[in-house]
Amino acid sequence: MNFITVKSYDELSVKAANIIASQIIMKPNCVLGLATGSSPVGTYKELIKKCNAGELDFSTVTSVNLDEYVGLNGDHDQSYRYFMNTNLFNHVNIDKAKTAVPSGISDDLAAEGAAYDKHIADLGGIDLQLLGIGLDGHIGFNEPADVFTKETHVVDLHESTIEANARFFESIDDVPKKAITMGMGAIMNAKKVLLVANGANKKEILEKAFFGPITPQVPASILQLHPDVTVIYSEN
Ligand code: GLP
Repeated sequence: MNFITVKSYDELSVKAANIIASQIIMKPNCVLGLATGSSPVGTYKELIKKCNAGELDFSTVTSVNLDEYVGLNGDHDQSYRYFMNTNLFNHVNIDKAKTAVPSGISDDLAAEGAAYDKHIADLGGIDLQLLGIGLDGHIGFNEPADVFTKETHVVDLHESTIEANARFFESIDDVPKKAITMGMGAIMNAKKVLLVANGANKKEILEKAFFGPITPQVPASILQLHPDVTVIYSEN
């Protein structure tokens, strides 16, 4: 594992964007696994800059996102589809038809999960998976549990996650209680994993995840078994 500590969020964002840009340059038709949350926002801004400067071409890139809230459609300003459109896709030359986010409004979420996994498998898996980490150690929305779940599945969000994400909603009651998330199978099958985290409040969970025991109670700890993980952390 490559654990890089940097001095600022800006430095984190530039480094992470450089890694993603290298992936796109090395394999223009790559499959990117993308993440939401506040941590990757700066990374996406840097990627947009590179694209606008003509240094990066997203036209042959395919993307698959980690997760979506159950009950929110893509027009809802707190949906992860909306997040991806406004923070990245609307500003680069990616073909939106080649960007996938699980549907949180499907009538049959189990079928949606199975179709999502098939889509990822049909693409040949993920070349580079970008991740953040939740305060409870979740990746995507794989919350602490008794087992690691392999497939894309529906989860009950933990109270701490609902509290952490309440800042984006008008009130905590508006935060969805469930989400659909890629499971550990697709994440662990990704050829490369890049996890970005910032803030002093992430330090303890990063220590547990990357230097503690591997346990589904700390979902990100499974990444210790992945052969190609880069973590970029800024305390500020
Ligand atoms: C959210 C997302 C995760 C994200 C995490 C951390 O709930 N589902 O994919 O990594 O929480 O978010 P942040 O970067 O805002 O701390």
